[in-house]
Amino acid sequence: MLYERVKGTYDMLGNQSVVFQNVIENLKRIFSIYGFSYGQTSILQPIEMFKRAIGTDTDIVNKEMFIIKSKSGKEYVLKPEETAPMIKAVIESNLIHGLEMRKLYYITPIFRYERPQKGRYREFFQYGVETINSQDFRRDCELIMLGREILKSFGIKNYKIDINSLGCGKCRAEYISHLKKYFSENSSHLCAQCKIRLIKNPMRVLDCKEESCKSIAKGSPKIIDYLCIECRDDFENLMKCLKDFKIDFTVNPMIVRGLDYYTKTVFEFIEIGDALGKQSTLIGGGRYDTLSSELGGKNMPSCGFAGGLERLILSIPKEMQSNMEKEENIDVFIIHFGGKTTDIAFQFAEELRKKWVRSEILFETDKIKKQLSAASGRAKFAIIIGEEEMKENKVVIKDMTKQSQEKKDFDIEEIIEYIKRGKDA
Ligand code: HAM
Repeated sequence: MLYERVKGTYDMLGNQSVVFQNVIENLKRIFSIYGFSYGQTSILQPIEMFKRAIGTDTDIVNKEMFIIKSKSGKEYVLKPEETAPMIKAVIESNLIHGLEMRKLYYITPIFRYERPQKGRYREFFQYGVETINSQDFRRDCELIMLGREILKSFGIKNYKIDINSLGCGKCRAEYISHLKKYFSENSSHLCAQCKIRLIKNPMRVLDCKEESCKSIAKGSPKIIDYLCIECRDDFENLMKCLKDFKIDFTVNPMIVRGLDYYTKTVFEFIEIGDALGKQSTLIGGGRYDTLSSELGGKNMPSCGFAGGLERLILSIPKEMQSNMEKEENIDVFIIHFGGKTTDIAFQFAEELRKKWVRSEILFETDKIKKQLSAASGRAKFAIIIGEEEMKENKVVIKDMTKQSQEKKDFDIEEIIEYIKRGKDA
């Protein structure tokens, strides 16, 4: 090999790409059922925005950003998440007027300089949604329901939903002072990095993966006990709503998320099987009521979530994956016998394509066996154009799944009708 793949990245071809496309199509369908429309932001983003939105004491900003220097010396970053770019784009484009609410979804490349392993890449895709300018707790519930519907639609059952509330600016300040006190009293058990976190951003200690920090964190004060009346009511309303919709969840006070912009509700969908190796978070999200004003926009309370597309695919049961691989990607394969029939077949394929029938033809051989084998698994029908049939102005239509065939008039409209009926059958 002259050149190798960049570490932490992957290419996608063959069956894998068929599954990938299928998953994306399904996600788009579910997002639109829930009223989300597509939004896209650029990959290159201003570095300062993430420092402000995600926080300077987070792993993402401290260690994981891919920074690019332009010729003029300006620094940009390959986006390490999509929430801040999306809110920035909404502010810049003046998309939301007054009390209007918007629901946007995305499926986009994300870049994080992490140690690659199963389910963890340096370049990966996030699918996600943002509900912008709505304070209603039912929106939080709707997101959790949507997450559940997504996993259900892919046959994923091995997961649990953890929720927590991080409170608002008011109640969190009091909580942080108690947390700081607790960790200061136990600081001899904290790792070197957490000793710094303790001064700069004590809630990040709750996120630390070091065993000694984890065991100290277990006994720490819980934010849930410090919520103000408004945040507590919101959280209780959300829990009631989830129960009404029969959604199983656990309140996990250790869910603080790795990004600083969250307020009130946060949640994670955690894989509990072994599909993801050491990784476990399928989906993570929550409310971020102050991010828009932090980024210079008007006050727009919002909430959203994102999941790793690769982690989603890794968690799909094998049987469902192989069904997706088998899915036909064209409607019709036109079979010819060489000579004049090849030209007629080519013209016919073009006519079908103009009528939005997905059609393919193999010029590289006129061997029928080879053409039929290329059609099998790719097309629902093969249309056979032979010399004999041409004389009668007929074609043979072969149903590749049922292995049955019929002679039909060489009439494009009739053939399309026949194919449509067969496809829906
Ligand atoms: P996050 O938890 O940092 O949240 O990432 C969301 C999801 O992206 C994770 O749950 C995981 O499935 C996937 N993910 C993260 N890092 C990697 C990686 N290195 N390789 C593969 N997959 C990965 C956010 O990014 C927030 N913006 C989510 C959000 C949207 N909150 C509100 N709105």
